[in-house]
Amino acid sequence: MERPGRSDLAKHWTLDPNITFLNHGSFGACPIAVIEEQRQWQDLLEKDPVAFFEDTTPEISSKVRDELGLFLNCAGDDLALVTNATTGVNTILRSLVFNSGDEILVPDHAYQACRNAIDFVARRWGVKVVTCQIPFPIDSDQQIIDIVIDGVTKNTKLALIDTVTSPTGLRMPFEQLVAELEGKGIPVLLDAAHGPGMTPLDLNKSGASYVTGNCHKWLCSPKGSAFLFVRKDLQHQIHPLTISHGANFPLDGISRFRHEFDWVGTSDISAWLSVPKAITEMQKIAQCDWQEIIHKNRSLCIKGRNIICETLGLEVPCPDEMIASISTLKITDSALNAFLRPAHQPDPLHEVLLEKYGIQVPVWSWPSPEGRYLRISAQLYNHIDEYHYLAECLAKEL
Ligand SMILES: Cc1ncc(COP(=O)(O)O)c(C=O)c1O
Repeated sequence: MERPGRSDLAKHWTLDPNITFLNHGSFGACPIAVIEEQRQWQDLLEKDPVAFFEDTTPEISSKVRDELGLFLNCAGDDLALVTNATTGVNTILRSLVFNSGDEILVPDHAYQACRNAIDFVARRWGVKVVTCQIPFPIDSDQQIIDIVIDGVTKNTKLALIDTVTSPTGLRMPFEQLVAELEGKGIPVLLDAAHGPGMTPLDLNKSGASYVTGNCHKWLCSPKGSAFLFVRKDLQHQIHPLTISHGANFPLDGISRFRHEFDWVGTSDISAWLSVPKAITEMQKIAQCDWQEIIHKNRSLCIKGRNIICETLGLEVPCPDEMIASISTLKITDSALNAFLRPAHQPDPLHEVLLEKYGIQVPVWSWPSPEGRYLRISAQLYNHIDEYHYLAECLAKEL
C-alpha cells in the first residue's frame, strides 16, 4: 500500500511530505505566503519596537479588526483580538458575575478545555452546570435543539454552544439554538473555534451575546490569532483576563472595551496582523471565494467519511447536513481504558497509524457520549486518495 500524495495546492504549505496529514482540525496549518507575511511584521517590529507598538500598532490593528469584521459581518469595534478560543471563552466566563444557584447550560460534546473553564467558574460562584446529553450517532438537528432547549430552566444564566463540536465533529444547528436561547433571554457564548473559514458566520444576524473564534484553524492564519466578539450592550461587563493600561486611559471617543482589549501588555501581535493576508491568500490559492472553499472542503470531508464507513462497514453517524470540514467516526461503543486519556498518552491506534503508516489523524476516547472516536479533516491541500489510504490502513489494524 503506497502512501498517496496531496492535492496540487499542497505546494502552498510546508507540511511534512512524509506524513498524510488529516488533522487540520486540531491546530490548522498556515500557508507559506502567510508565514512570510508574519515574518515581515516581526521584522518591522524589531526594526523599532517603540515606533511599532506606539505608532504602527493602533492603526494597523484597527484595520485588522475592521477587515475581520467584514468577514464575520460585525463592526470591527465589537471585536477583541485574543490569542485563542480558550482565552475567549475564559474571558467571558471569568468576567461575568453569577449568583449561587444560577445554571450554565452546556452540551456534553463541548471542548474539554472550555468545559474545564465552566467548571472552574461554577465552583467559584456555586453555579450548577447543566450538561445536555446529545447522542452520537445522531439523526437530525432537531434532536439537538430539543435536548438543549429542554435543559433550560428559570435559573439558566448562560449557554455555551459550539458552531462545530470538537470530539464529535458535528456542525451544530447553532443559528437556531442562538435564536431560541437568546429569544428566551439566555445569553449565548458561541464557541466558534471551528468557525471562520469552516462554516459561514454572520455575527450581526446571529444575535449571540458573545462569540469567540479561531482564525488559526480554518482561515489558516498563524497560531495565536483569534477573536472575541461582544455585543455592544454587554461590552461594559466584559474585561480582558489581563488588566492593563486601558483600564484608566481617558476615553477620548473610544470605548472602555476597546481601550482594555487593545493593550494587554507587550506581546508578538504578528499573527493577528497576518489575518487579512490569510483571508486573501486562501482565496488566491484556491482561485475561488470563501463560500466555495468551504463547499470544497466540506464535500471532500463527506466523501472521505463515506469511503472510511464503506470500507470498514461502519454506520454513517449523522446526515451530511450536520457535517462541515471535520467528521468523527465511532470506532467502538466503549471508551478505551480510562475515560479522557490525558493528551500526553495518545490512543495506541493513533500511534500505529502515525508510526506504521505515516498518517496523522486524531483518535480518542470520550466519556459522553461514550466511545472511541477517529476524526478526519479536509483542507485544500488534501486529496481524496488520502482517505482511501486511511480506510485501507484502518481495515488492516481494526
Ligand atoms: C470547539 C473548540 N473550542 C475551543 C478550542 C480551543 O482552541 P484553542 O486551542 O485555539 O484555544 C478548540 C480546539 O480545537 C475546539 O475544537
